[in-house]
Amino acid sequence: MGLREVVSDYTVSLHYDRRLYRQDIAGSAAHARMLAKQGIISEADGDAIVNGLNLVQREIEEGKFPWMPELEDIHMNIERRLHELIGEPALRLHTARSRNDQVALDVRMFVKEAITEAIGALHALRSALVCAAEANPDSAMPGYTHLQRAQPVLFAHHMLAYYEMFSRDAERFSQAFARADVMPLGSGALAGLPYPIDRRFVADQLGFSRISANSMDAVSDRDFLLDFHSAAAICAMHLSRLGEELILWSSDEFGFVRLADAHTTGSSIMPQKRNPDFAEIARGKTGRVYGSLIGLFTTLKGLPLTYNRDMQEDKEGLFDTVDTLLATLKIFSDMVADMQIRRERMAAAASEGYLLATDLADYLVAKGMPFREAYRIAAALSEEAGRRGLGFHSLPISDYKRYSPLFEADVYGITVDRSISLRDVPGGTAHGRALAAIGAAKRQLEAEDESP
Ligand code: ARG
Repeated sequence: MGLREVVSDYTVSLHYDRRLYRQDIAGSAAHARMLAKQGIISEADGDAIVNGLNLVQREIEEGKFPWMPELEDIHMNIERRLHELIGEPALRLHTARSRNDQVALDVRMFVKEAITEAIGALHALRSALVCAAEANPDSAMPGYTHLQRAQPVLFAHHMLAYYEMFSRDAERFSQAFARADVMPLGSGALAGLPYPIDRRFVADQLGFSRISANSMDAVSDRDFLLDFHSAAAICAMHLSRLGEELILWSSDEFGFVRLADAHTTGSSIMPQKRNPDFAEIARGKTGRVYGSLIGLFTTLKGLPLTYNRDMQEDKEGLFDTVDTLLATLKIFSDMVADMQIRRERMAAAASEGYLLATDLADYLVAKGMPFREAYRIAAALSEEAGRRGLGFHSLPISDYKRYSPLFEADVYGITVDRSISLRDVPGGTAHGRALAAIGAAKRQLEAEDESP
């Protein structure tokens, strides 16, 4: 087949790009059918190629395929084996095609499938978050800024914040899908092809919605991979943040959740420990996901048009990110679904300290005091209460009145629960808002189930 007998190990990509065998075979079959339909090859040759490709696929899946690393990559391995199996018609398969548009096709097909899986895995995680919110609709917890207790919020509201983050991720992945969903075959090596091909036919067979507009761009474009890597990197960052919270929350210092035994491990020397290893490893894996994004950016940055062999380096990082992302999403769905929420600990943490100081200021504002002045008084009161080791509720009304005559007995009506219910604005933590947000999220998830 005019192949060099031996190539250096350095150029071989077979050990990783064999993962593209399904896409490569489907792409070749669609191409052969198109060549036959257009009269570029005979119908008989087209049929022989398609049937032969089915045999090749079966051999690969049954572990019987004779891999030949010296043929460099998956494309040459499949074409060579096809020749062994069906003879002469195999030599016509590569008519009106180049490995440059072929590999671009395979990678686009691969990434479209990976994105569909990622969106499905995100759906499961988003559902788990909504379930956790719904199962604990009234649980209060401290909301934090600067990792300092700031104001009381509903645990459900906190879970729904992550629902929003992962919903944006799903949206970003759909956008990445749309950019990958462009069929490059028919670009040839770079300039297009001198055959009466039907590119739309190939696109339809392979489930692509569009065909590429410029042959030079089509063989040298890997932006769709950058879109995927970017979406994956942002999603990994979100997973890492959630992982960090679960690590903090499952510590004795917080004690807000207990992770399931399946998601913790013991220490080899400290028998009391339940280490949140899964969340930690997920947090750690963010690094390699970012790494693959930066790696591809760097690989592409100096390349002149059109295809350059550097681009072969696009695959290992891609596969690694797909595997890392899908595994991590799955683990987080389970971790969130199986964690035990320690409501009393959260509620206690929300009512300790001075999380209601803002509410004290708002109380004075409601009685006509300008906010800045009210803020100053609430700050001084918190300071004094803290110094005397008293909570707001244990401070006598006479002490309040030393700061402002506006304070009356109803100041003791400021509670965690009331603080939460007063934040009744769109996007706020009030109980009714959280319930409505849970309802909206569930409807959204159901709608996606019906038309994914
Ligand atoms: N293994 C190559 C890659 O992944 C396939 C395309 C090779 N094309 C070529 N002209 N050598 O990019």
